[in-house]
Amino acid sequence: MTHPKTAEKMMNGAGPIERALLPRLVHITEAAAIAAAYQMGRGDKMLADHVAVEAMRRMLNSLDMKGVIKIGEGERDEAPMLFIGEELGTCKGDIVVDIAVDPLEGTNLTADGVPGSISVMAMSEPGGLFHGPDVYMDKIVVGPDVIRYEKNHPDERIDLDAPVVHNLQIVAKALKRSIDEIVVVILDRPRHQQKIKEIREAGARVRLVTDGDLMPGIATAIRGSGIHIVMGAGGSGEAVLTAAAIKILGGDIVARLVLPTVANGESEEMIAREIEEKMPRLRTMGITEDNMNDVLDINKLAPGKDVIFSATGITPGQLLREANLFGGGDARIHSISMGSSGVVQFTDTIYVRDKENTPLYL
Ligand code: FBP
Repeated sequence: MTHPKTAEKMMNGAGPIERALLPRLVHITEAAAIAAAYQMGRGDKMLADHVAVEAMRRMLNSLDMKGVIKIGEGERDEAPMLFIGEELGTCKGDIVVDIAVDPLEGTNLTADGVPGSISVMAMSEPGGLFHGPDVYMDKIVVGPDVIRYEKNHPDERIDLDAPVVHNLQIVAKALKRSIDEIVVVILDRPRHQQKIKEIREAGARVRLVTDGDLMPGIATAIRGSGIHIVMGAGGSGEAVLTAAAIKILGGDIVARLVLPTVANGESEEMIAREIEEKMPRLRTMGITEDNMNDVLDINKLAPGKDVIFSATGITPGQLLREANLFGGGDARIHSISMGSSGVVQFTDTIYVRDKENTPLYL
């Protein structure tokens, strides 16, 4: 066989954002993750979030680009954040990007020092990532086997409005398994009680997570992760970030915006108050009473052609190792990054400031 020149061809096919910014993006989520790792296990989630946000903001502001945050995380729980609409970068050069961020995904997990927290970000050309508020999105995330199955069986599609068993059957058939061999990840929340019951009644196995439903979504596209489908309502920023990555990895996501008061079954009065408070701003983002309940497919959530994504582990996770801190600020840190070209990298980065005294381990 002649040399297929895969690396050369794929990098030649990469868009300008991927070429210029993907290597930098990894260092940005690394910087935020290292900052958060210093606050791991201290029981202070606001502080951990604050240092991650500030590290990410500093790094983004050093990039020669003009960027704007299109969706993020922090409004809902009044946490430190990069603001939706915030402009970042030096504005030098001609690169213009939309940004989706979650500097610290899993604030409680970091504060408690338990597995599953990451720092995560995506960028695209303008208009390439869903612009919306930090509310919830109800969603279903699946890997590439399901897309392949759907192509061969056009009448059988993952459907947010179908009974849970319908979606589990499709995933099981796509993976050539029975439903009792399928693992569903879902946030452990009272709002999901009914869905969890239905998943169990259908025969699938459930992995409840206390926080952090973004990486499990990405894991559906990675064989051997042991995660086959993610369901339920989580943060809207997390859903858009999942969409950016899962699109590059060939999987799928369907989602719908849901206001927290609605998702959490609060009183009519609370719902009415949230609608009154949030609708004026939502309308400026193109979200109205008429389209609020529309199903958002992957091309609405991450329509970009030049999308880049990076996530870095803080506490240990299924796909990413934890951040290890050594003396004097040295650190070893593990990330997954990818771009629309299809190049996916797992990077094991070691920051060595003190070369004489910091040994490198394999
Ligand atoms: P934080 O980054 O704010 O800690 O969010 C973690 C998370 O568990 C997400 O993974 C999830 O999508 C969302 O919060 C769920 O929100 P809620 O805790 O309000 O149910």
